[in-house]
Amino acid sequence: MDRLLSVSMLSANFGRLDDSVDMVNESVADWFHLDIMDGVFVPNISFGIPVIQAIAKKAIKPLDVHLMIVDPDRYIEAFKEVGAHLLSIHYEACTHLHRSLHRIKALGMKAGVVLNPHTSVEVLSDIIQETDFVLLMSVNPGFGGQSFIENTYNKITRLKEMIVKAGSTTLIEIDGGVSQQNADRLYAAGADILVAGNAIFATGDPLQNIKQFKVQTLLQEQVASCLAMTTKQSTL
Ligand code: DX5
Ligand code: ZN
Repeated sequence: MDRLLSVSMLSANFGRLDDSVDMVNESVADWFHLDIMDGVFVPNISFGIPVIQAIAKKAIKPLDVHLMIVDPDRYIEAFKEVGAHLLSIHYEACTHLHRSLHRIKALGMKAGVVLNPHTSVEVLSDIIQETDFVLLMSVNPGFGGQSFIENTYNKITRLKEMIVKAGSTTLIEIDGGVSQQNADRLYAAGADILVAGNAIFATGDPLQNIKQFKVQTLLQEQVASCLAMTTKQSTL
């Protein structure tokens, strides 16, 4: 199982964006998470194409672009052109989700569907095999630094069951209120990718904060392999 970390640049210091990009490049994090908000789909405006262009110039890791905008179809090509590797669009903002996902994939990007906290994972049952990843919002989208919604664990379990049943390779990404405290439980529930902004940038040293996510992951893997060895020995 993948255990990836995507760093949300929404919480970075925009006055020193280059430094934050360098920091993520040097870190053990896997992706850059870039939140695009239009002030209509969500009650906030973040940044747009020129900022992504600036980040793309320096970034040596994949750009995971999360569109919180109405009618995302209008901008699929534009985000490809500025270097998005993964592009996720909200279920709640798409009338023809099947067509939109195929357009994203035809351009060579990984296609993701995002669900707001109130949207049941079951709405994806007829599209799961077309989806490279599902991003479950674990806060109401629009702002960094909000509290994690506990029902997300339940949604991960149900989504994982759906993916396994469909024999699909779809990955699960979790976004909002993720921290070093809930990371293990989220990965254990079936998450493959965690997004973190506040937990990386708000306090302390961002590089160390990122490392903490990964240290816990490594420990978890070691414990799992020890348990597997113990089980194997006891059956011999
Ligand atoms: C919220 C954004 C998130 C946000 C996460 O609408 O989609 O990516 O930056 O921030 P934290 O980790 O601070 O909850
Ligand atoms: Zn996001």
